[in-house]
Amino acid sequence: MLTPRRLIAGNWKMHGLAASLGEARAIAAAVQGRPPLARVAICPPATLIHRMSAALAGTPVLLGGQDCRPEPSGAFTGSISAEMLADAGAQLVILGHSERRRDFGETDSLVAAKVSAAFRAGLEPIVCVGERADERRAGRALAVVLAQVRGSLPDEADGRDFAVAYEPVWAIGAGVTPTLPEIGEMHSAIREALAARFGEAGRRAPILYGGSVSPANAGEVLAGREVGGALVGGASLTARTFVPIIDALAVLRPSAS
Ligand code: PGA
Repeated sequence: MLTPRRLIAGNWKMHGLAASLGEARAIAAAVQGRPPLARVAICPPATLIHRMSAALAGTPVLLGGQDCRPEPSGAFTGSISAEMLADAGAQLVILGHSERRRDFGETDSLVAAKVSAAFRAGLEPIVCVGERADERRAGRALAVVLAQVRGSLPDEADGRDFAVAYEPVWAIGAGVTPTLPEIGEMHSAIREALAARFGEAGRRAPILYGGSVSPANAGEVLAGREVGGALVGGASLTARTFVPIIDALAVLRPSAS
């Protein structure tokens, strides 16, 4: 069986000024020269990507955007394209984060169009899915998430590198996480759906867990069934809290990447 390409990605959201480049350097210094247990990425605000790519040149830390528009360019004031993220130095892009689905009304089909844009620009998309608390209470978590997986990934994901992040909306920034069996059940169902639709690409895609990952729970969460890494919000903002999450992988078997 192929080992998924593990990924620990930090989602800085709307946090970070030039002064934060020091944290990124400290994160890079901590992972440099270590055995590659996973790929490590920081997804800062778009305004920092170019400077961060210069600051981290020569280190193994990857950079990602947090969103893009489907079009390569055009009259879309305030938006950025996948090509622009790649041009600024990004290799990855988070798409369909629940905050964008909630605040900007992003639908699965819009997310799928953005995923196509990411492939066009040579970026690896991290496609976010996750149920709301009311959906889980109603026993619909699995159905909601699998529908998002189906709708947010275009057919052309076949043969491409992509990651899926399972982020229960109610766990994000809340200090609570699902139980390990709940995470395992969801990740296994996502894996089955990906493998059935995309074959090898679906078996290789890392399925990240996201939502209140911290140094305290990372070891447990990362050892979960079909957990191929983490998408980390608040705890990724400082080396002090992000590096122990990356280190938590050391107890697991080495990654293929
Ligand atoms: P959190 O955010 O780790 O702060 O809960 C995760 C995310 O929204 O990606």
